[in-house]
This record gives sequence, C-alpha cells and structure tokens, in this order.
Amino acid sequence: MDANDIKVKEAIGFKEYLEIGDSYYQKNDIDSAIKNYYSALKIDSTNPKVLLNIYIKFSSTQFLNTNDKLMKEICLFFLNQQNICHRYGFDNFLRFTLYSKNKDFIGNYKLNKHYKFNDKLVSILNDKILQLILKRCLVVDSDLEEFLTQIRKNLLEIYTSRTNDIIKRIYKFLICFAEQCFFNEYIFKFTKKEEKLLLKVEKELSKKKKIDEYDLLLISLYKPIKSLNFLNNKLGIYQSKSKDFNDYLKFTFRDSEYENNLANEIREISKINNKKSLIVKHQYEENPFPRWRTTNLPDKTDLKDFIYKKTKNHFIDYDLKKKKILIAGCGTGQQILNYSGINDVDIYAVDISKTSLGYAKRMTDQYKIQNIKYFQTDLLNIDLLKESFDMIVCTGVLHHMEKPFEGLKSLCKVLKPNGFLKLGLYSTIGRSSIKELRSDIERLDLDFNKKNMSRIREIISNSENNEIKNLSKFTDFYSTSGFRDLIFNKIEHTFSLIEIKNEIFKHNLKFLGFEVISNYLQMFKVYYPDYNSELNLMYWNDFEINFPKTFVSMYNFWVSKNYLPKMVKN
Ligand SMILES: C[S@@+](CC[C@H](N)C(=O)[O-])C[C@H]1O[C@@H](n2cnc3c(N)ncnc32)[C@H](O)[C@@H]1O
Repeated sequence: MDANDIKVKEAIGFKEYLEIGDSYYQKNDIDSAIKNYYSALKIDSTNPKVLLNIYIKFSSTQFLNTNDKLMKEICLFFLNQQNICHRYGFDNFLRFTLYSKNKDFIGNYKLNKHYKFNDKLVSILNDKILQLILKRCLVVDSDLEEFLTQIRKNLLEIYTSRTNDIIKRIYKFLICFAEQCFFNEYIFKFTKKEEKLLLKVEKELSKKKKIDEYDLLLISLYKPIKSLNFLNNKLGIYQSKSKDFNDYLKFTFRDSEYENNLANEIREISKINNKKSLIVKHQYEENPFPRWRTTNLPDKTDLKDFIYKKTKNHFIDYDLKKKKILIAGCGTGQQILNYSGINDVDIYAVDISKTSLGYAKRMTDQYKIQNIKYFQTDLLNIDLLKESFDMIVCTGVLHHMEKPFEGLKSLCKVLKPNGFLKLGLYSTIGRSSIKELRSDIERLDLDFNKKNMSRIREIISNSENNEIKNLSKFTDFYSTSGFRDLIFNKIEHTFSLIEIKNEIFKHNLKFLGFEVISNYLQMFKVYYPDYNSELNLMYWNDFEINFPKTFVSMYNFWVSKNYLPKMVKN
C-alpha cells in the first residue's frame, strides 16, 4: 500500500466513523456516538466545524454509565485543543477527574479541616484532567473551589513549617493552580493567618539571590507576581528548566507587560469627559471583562448569509465597497472572535477601557485575526471616528452608560441606512434577584473591594432564598471581574420590553427578533403560533411575565435601520 492508498483508507474511515456516530446520536445512544466521533477525530481533527459539532454534543451530555478509560482520553483530547471554549465541557471534564471519583475521601478529610498529603491526595492533585481544567477553564464549581481553597491554606502552612518535601511532588499541580488563581483574579477567600505566612514567604524570597520557583508559585496562589516589585527585573529574564514553568511565567507576568505595550499603541479618538463614563472606565481598566483563554472559532461565512441566518432579512448590497462592522464596547475581544469568520470585512473594535483593548488585541493576535482596527473611545463620541457601518454589535454595554438611549442615538448616527444592529440589554424582570442584592449593597454602602466581594459571595452561597442562591451557578460568580460586573457595577440600568419597543420606534429601527435559547422560542410558538409572532414585542412582554427566566442574562436582539427616502418637494 502506498501513501496515497493509506490516505484514501483513512478518509473513508473518518467519514464512516462520523456517519456511525450520527446514527447512534439519532438513536440517543450518546456513549456509542461519542466513541465513534472520537475515532473519527483521532484520524483527522483539523476541520473546525466537525470538531466543534462533536465537542458541543460531548459538552451537552451527562455521561453516567460509560467507559471511564475512554472518556478520560476524550476529556484530555478536548482539553488539549486550542479552538474550542473549554468552559462548555467543564462539567464533563470534572466528572472524570480523580477528584470527583474520590469525593467521599475528600469530604471526610474536609471535616478535619486539614488535608493529609498522602499518596492518594497527591495522585488526585497530579491528575492530568484536573490540572488541565485549572489551566484552561475557570473553576465554576463551589465544592471544587472549597477544596482548592483548603488545599492552598494547608500547603502554605506545610511550606512555612519547613516540612516542605510534599511541594516537590506536586510541582506541576502548583503551576496549574497558580495559573487558575491568576485567571480568576484571586477570588478564593483567605484567612489572616495565611496573610501572615505569605508575608514570611515573600520576605524570604526577597533575601534570596536566585529565584526560588516554589516560593514564587506559593505566592502566585494569592497575588499577581508583578506586584513583587523587588523581583520585576529578575523575572523579566528568568528561564526555568521546566517548559511548564516558563509558560506560567509568560501567562502570569510577561503577557500583562506585553498587553500594556499593545494598549499604549491604541489610538484614543477623543478625551473621555462624561463623569459616569469615567467611573465605568475605571472599573473595566481595573478588571477587564470577560477574562478568557480559549474560545470556539466560527465557520467562514459571507456577511449576507450571516445576516440572513440571524435575522431572516436580506442584506442590501447598495455599494461595492468593503463592508464594515463595528463592535461597540468590545471588552476583552472574545466577542470579536464570533464575527471573525465573516469574509471580506473590516472590523472596528472600540471600548472605553484601554486595558480591555490591550487584552483583546493580544488575544486576537494569538488567533491570527488581522482585519481588526482598535480604538479607545466613549460611545458617545463614536461619530468622531468618521466611519459608517453595515453592521454594529453592542451587547452588555449601553446599560452601563449614564443615559443608555443617548448611546443608542450615537450608534444610530454611524449605522448605514438599512444597516443591522445587534443589541444586548439587561431585563428588569430577568435581573430581579440581582436588583434586590444590589439594593442591599447600596443600603450597606459597600464599595467594591476584596473583603466586600467575599462577604457578598458568602451571602449568596448561604442564602435561603433560592433565587439569590442560584446566582452561585453563574459563571460570573467565579472570577473577580465577572463578579464585579455581575453585582458591583456602579452604573447599571434595566429595561422592560415596552420601554425597548418605544425606543426602537423613536430611533426609527425595525425589530428583527431575539437570539434566545431555542427551548424558549419553541415554547413561545406554542403560546403564539401565528405567522411572524416572534416579531411582536407585546407578545414577548406577556411571555416574559409568565416565564421570568427567559431573558435572565439579557435581551439579545437584532434591529435594522429603516431607510427613509428623502421627501420630494412638489
Ligand atoms: C460587560 S462588558 C461587555 C463586553 C463585550 N461587549 C462582551 O459582550 O463580551 C462592557 C464593556 O463595555 C465597555 N463600555 C462601557 N461603557 C462604555 C462607553 N461609554 N463607551 C465605550 N465602551 C464602554 C466597558 O469598558 C466594557 O468593556
């Protein structure tokens, strides 16, 4: 058999495995489906669409009675891919860790409030799946958070008591754990005793001539190493023998410096004067949102098809110029990736926060996306960019402006006639439990800081009100920037659908439908079966009153700008 024959044989194997996988999937035999899909991916995992489809099927299934060995292999396979969002698979990845298999053992020890670092515990910490979870995903599980918080405390105590051999057996775990703590911006709680012990480690490290990797990793579990001023020069040139350690140093130290440089090169369109905008800027400069490391890469598509898929409307190609898309309030750029598959467009990405823009630029460079121009501006001044756009995306932004509909007015000025606009706005009904919590925070006059954040997290976790307790299931509960954005935002407005309907009308926009979880849309159509009922905001208003969780994250919807032909004078 020559090389060509082998290729043909492999291609047939790949297709057959996919088809067999599909047929099992249709019969709801998900275990067998995933097994065959994985056999296909082992032959070829380079097609992003196939990879993503299988990954989404894997992530949305609860595997119960399955072949453990194979599932672990599949978890490791997905955790090692770059172009998928690992957060989706978190629950399944966690299910197949030694940590989950040994929950009883872990629970028993928890009662003693001190873990014994015996072989069993060491093997749990050295489990590859757990380590990759710490590296790639945000830990969004309260039990795992509690376990890790306790482990961190015990490790610091052991380390500072000079019986520190154990640390050497879990070097790689420490690296992954340090990356997790940097990624969640040190959201785990700590005690006064830990603060004291940490100071001791810092002091010792400052006296040492060489960098002690264990000291550094231990400190890294509690604070960013760039805050250790005495080390900055040494860290800039340090090379470890371990590739993992060098990667950790890049992620937690060098990348931030690099982002700062990128941010400083971004053009500022105008000075930011609005007082409320400055408050919001300050928040997102301190805590750029959302933090992300990997994401799903979209398919390649034409703008026309993209718009049609989202809105069932036709994009009117009235000129031959290259099309322009504006991502207004792009944050850290994860959102930009969703639009990066659109062929032959220029993307303009703007935000009020320079640190967010630096993060976005570093990450989109990493994904080798080249057609993006970044600018810093308040959306109120977006017209100073002197551009107009065929499509604008602005989600999660206007509700943080002093006057959200002034922001909308600014966007309408730069949207071309017949152009398309996607908006994301908070729902008053959807955020009612958060509103309650926010008014408590206001009443207690709690500013955002680590102590108050821990306090509110405890209140949520221990609440007897299920609506409040459920907030601990939000991804944003598990990182400092996420939690600050969710609960502590200084400026936040929420809306009803009646208010939105009125504003849309005022701005001469046409409603083109929600991006809503498909189950809700199916349910909506049962209640309102008439043709195009999904375009009726009054129906949706009634629906939301009956199903208040429909827009719990926000109203995400599309509108287009009505083209008004100029009146001809008689
Ligand atoms: C919650 S984040 C959303 C980020 C992104 N749109 C997303 O969905 O991932 C809000 C973003 O809006 C930006 N922002 C808030 N007010 C702004 C304003 N007046 N002008 C420009 N950007 C603004 C913030 O800096 C922040 O990055």
